[in-house]
This record gives sequence, structure tokens and C-alpha cells, in this order.
Amino acid sequence: MYYSDEVIEEVRSKNDIVDVISGYVKLQKKGRDYFGLCPFHNEKSPSFSVSRVKQMYYCFGCGAGGNVFTFLMEYENYSFSEALKFLADRAGVTLPRQEYSQEAKERADTKAILLEINKAAAQYYYVQLKNGRGEQALSYLKNRELSDDMIRAFGLGYSNKYGDDLYQYLRSKGYSSDMISKAGLIGVDEQKGAYDKFWNRVMFPIMDVNSRVIGFGGRVMGEGKPKYLNSPETMIFDKSRNLYGLHRARSSKRHYFLLCEGYMDVISLHQAGFTNAVASLGTALTPGHASLIKRYVKEVYLTYDSDEAGTKAALRAMPILKEVGITAKVIRMDPYKDPDEFIKNLGQDAFEERIQKARNGFMFSLEVLERNYDLNSPEGKTDFMREAARRLTEFDEEVERTNYIEAVAATYRVRYEDLRKLVSRVAVQTGQGRPAERPKTTSARKKEKEDGIQKSQKVLLTWMIEDEAVFRQIEQYIAPADFSEGLYRTVAELLYEQYASEDVNPAKIMNHFTDEEEHREVASLFHTKIRELSTEREQEKALKETVIRVKNHSIDEAARRLEPTDMKGFQQLMDAKRELKDLQKLHISVN
Ligand code: UTP
Ligand code: MN
Repeated sequence: MYYSDEVIEEVRSKNDIVDVISGYVKLQKKGRDYFGLCPFHNEKSPSFSVSRVKQMYYCFGCGAGGNVFTFLMEYENYSFSEALKFLADRAGVTLPRQEYSQEAKERADTKAILLEINKAAAQYYYVQLKNGRGEQALSYLKNRELSDDMIRAFGLGYSNKYGDDLYQYLRSKGYSSDMISKAGLIGVDEQKGAYDKFWNRVMFPIMDVNSRVIGFGGRVMGEGKPKYLNSPETMIFDKSRNLYGLHRARSSKRHYFLLCEGYMDVISLHQAGFTNAVASLGTALTPGHASLIKRYVKEVYLTYDSDEAGTKAALRAMPILKEVGITAKVIRMDPYKDPDEFIKNLGQDAFEERIQKARNGFMFSLEVLERNYDLNSPEGKTDFMREAARRLTEFDEEVERTNYIEAVAATYRVRYEDLRKLVSRVAVQTGQGRPAERPKTTSARKKEKEDGIQKSQKVLLTWMIEDEAVFRQIEQYIAPADFSEGLYRTVAELLYEQYASEDVNPAKIMNHFTDEEEHREVASLFHTKIRELSTEREQEKALKETVIRVKNHSIDEAARRLEPTDMKGFQQLMDAKRELKDLQKLHISVN
């Protein structure tokens, strides 16, 4: 969705950040700024600050920060356009209607209807559960010790025994057979016509992160197959991009999610106060799930079933989580089958204890691996250690690898030095310190280098945003075009314009980025802690090196793109190179 800069800025400027945040956090004025307890991490003394002048917030404790849009995106987990709509509403700004192409409009209309149908169906099932017809279902849920609160919170229901009851109901509300079918709620038989897909089952509505019903799981009461019947994937239901329970877990204060396997596990955990539980929808964890989770937390505790299948699923989930930068721990449920049974038998304190004792994902995977080897025989142990070493090579970062080598050496009683050597040897044998199935390509190595230069650009930009004096010293050497990363270049362009017109307004720069990922990335630019280096001299040295690195990279890039016949361009590059030499003598002051 696209809104013009003018509209976005109008909405932003009509929503004073102090007023908006005051609705969520108790703020106290101290000097020019306002302070309160940070809503994004647990703390006892206020390190969360809001600036009316800058129209930005920042937490000195956890580094959260941004403008009024960012706050709502982080606090309410809104997308940018949701935050925009919310604030437009709050300030009485009418947003212009979006222009859609005919096809996009039809798709959007269909999706809206499918959402309505699913919502109507959920309400219908809920009423059935409560109105006597669902007596058996209600007592089934009661037998499973679910409270009325949870039944309501998760909108549980009952699909009754009549073959086309829901279908008739939805038709009476004016929905076409075609749409009801697209919603995945009916099947169509050539002779008998439309029939309800869910029949005599306890119904679990599946909601997206914004609490909209997108599908259902239906459980037989007692034995019977399939145990759970699920909605097929539809235009609004993508199993690999939704998690059961996320609509509630997203506002949990814990900094990690409990990831489990079943609907009932999630509800039991929420009932026991673990409101950070989610489950993938009867499918293995996908990269789509992992990046969805990454929007909310950086750590996941896997509480999969304690059987063979659950263990395998946990082992498969770990690399998928690791790939997006989430660390995984494993909670064991033995002697019980799953979190639901565990909690019923041992209660919430015992579960909390298991959380505390959760095992590191990697060490857990080695414990599982152990079962294939006879660690009491020298050959068995050697083979095992070789495989462990191979897995250790998969850690890209040296610090991390060293830590794990230490942990493994301690656990399996081998000397650290020996294991380290073995890991290096295996790394060489398998090439580039990577597992055979995922060899590190040149492009991966190139990417690492690019990540480095991106980081430099980011640090430099942050510095220039934070400190006008630094900006004034650097602007003659570095131009927006020296930032090769598109996002940073745009920020630089806006920043240089603002400094030129002496109207520095970071909150306005942020408006420019409406894509969520971009918005977060830009928000982080304004608040990266750059002054962690101890002395001023060290800071100055680091800053100078950063300037040189960014400039150098920019010149190299330009040289690569230069046409051999472009004499003028060549001359410019020569000048730039000379300036770069001068830069070595430059003194930047940061006080
Ligand atoms: P489980 O078989 O572990 O069931 O399947 P459960 O969650 O413990 O359910 P209860 O406690 O017996 O009621 C785990 C998950 O796999 C999916 C469901 O999402 C279920 O919650 N599943 C399982 C299906 O989709 N269909 C099935 O037939 C079985
Ligand atoms: Mn269960």
C-alpha cells in the first residue's frame, strides 16, 4: 500500500509522540525529555525516554527506539499501514482511498469476504457449543479441564451433526456457494450437493496475528480418524505463515516463545499463564514460520512431544530457526507426552522449572546423536567426536564456535585443544568450515565482506545523525552517493537535505520507510549505541577509520563501474583517491 509523504507527515505531526506514548507508559518530565519504565523489557528504574523536540523515543536499557509509528509497530505489533490508520483515526485525518488495479481489487474483495465467512462460521460454532446442541462437546472440553475463559479467548466451538447446517446458515446470511467453498468450509458432491466439511467436532478457530479467523481445526470427541481435521489452504490461510496462538503470544512480556506441536498444548499453556506459547499448524516448522517468529522474539523454547517424532521435529526445527538468527532451546516433557499432559499432571511451577532447565539446542542434538554410537568403545567415541566436530564447523562465528567447542569438550570429557584441532581438521576436509550439504560459496564470502561495509556505513550514518558537529566535519568528504546500501543512501540524502535547510527532523526521515523491515532498520540507525568505546581518542580513531573505509569502498565501486573511455570519470576518481590520502591526516573531534 502506498501513501504519499505528505499524508504520512500530516498524520505524524498531528500525533504528538509524548501524548501517544502516555497512553501506554506512565511518563515523567525530567529536563526537556520524558522518562518512564520501558514497555519493551523488564526494568525497575526508568531508562525509557521520549523527546518532544525530536518526536522520538529511545530506551537506554534495551536500545528500542523510533518515532510514533515505530512505537505502535513495536508495542501493538502493527504493520506500518496499521499504525498509520490508527494514528490517522486518532487525529481525525482522513486517509485517501487507495487506487487498486481491477484484479487487485477483486482479490482484496474476495479475501475480505472469506474473512467475513470464517468469522461468521466461528461465531456459529461458538453458539452451537453453548446452546445445548453442543452439550457433549462442552463436557468434552470441561473433561479436558479447559476454563470458560480459555474457551472464550480461543473462540472454541462445535460443529453439529447435521450435514449442511453451517452451509445453510451462511447461505441465509447471503454468501454464495462459490465463496463458502473458497473459504474451505464445504465440499460439493455431484449428487447430494454442498455438505459441511466439519461435522460433529470440537472446533478450534485458527486466527492470524491480528485475531482474524482464517481457518479451523476440528477434533473428534474421543477416538476416531482423523483426530484433527483442518481447513485446506485458501486465499487467506497459509499454514506455513501462521502460528496458532500468535494473536495472544505476540503481546506476551516474555522475551521468548514456547513453540509446541498442538492446539491443546497452546491452550493449556496459556491457561497456566504461559501466554507466550504458539504452535505450527499440524505441519513441520517452515522458514516462513521462523521469520514470522523473528518479528517478535529472538529466542524459542521448543516443547515438542517427548516421543521419537517430536524429537525429530525438534532437530529439524533448530537449523531453520538458526538460519534466521533465532536461538533454540529444548524443553523436555518426559515422563509425559506433551505440554498439555505435563501441566495437567505436574502443574505450572513444574513447567516453569523445566523452562529454567531447558537444554541448549546444539547440546540436545548431540545427546540424540549419542544414541547411534557406543561411547564406551574407543572407535565409537572417535566416530562420535568426528561427527560432533563436523557439526561444530557449522558455527560461522568464531566466538560462538569456541564457546561450543568448550561446552562439548567439557561434556564429553575430551581436551579442549584436541577437539579444537579436530574441528579445524574436519573444517579443512569438508572445505571452508561448512557442512558438506551447504558448502560456503564465494558469494557467501563476498556477502560477509558486504555485511562489513554495510555496518561501517550504518555506524557512520548514525554518528552523523546524532551529532551535528560530526556531520559538519564529515560532509565535505562523504556524500550521500558514498552509501552503497540503498536504504542508507536514502536516509543520507534526506539527512543532508535537512541539515542544509537547518531543519533536522529525524522523525520525519523515518516516515519515508513504510515497509516494516525497512522501518525497523532505519529506526535502529537513530539509536545504535556508538559511544561504547571508552575514550574520546578511541572514538575519534574509530570514526576516522570508518570514514576512510566507506570512502574507499565507494571509490572502488565507482572504479569497477567506470567505462574505459570515461576520462572525466577517471579524473574524478583520481581526485577522490588523493582526498582519501588527505583523510588519513584528518582529525575529527567528537566531544
Ligand atoms: P497430536 O496427535 O500430538 O495431538 O498432534 P494433540 O495436540 O496432543 O491433541 P490432543 O491432546 O490429543 O487433543 C499435534 C498437532 O498435529 C496436528 C494438530 O495441529 C495437532 O494439534 N494434527 C494431528 C492434525 O492436524 N491432524 C491429526 O489427525 C493429528
Ligand atoms: Mn495432547
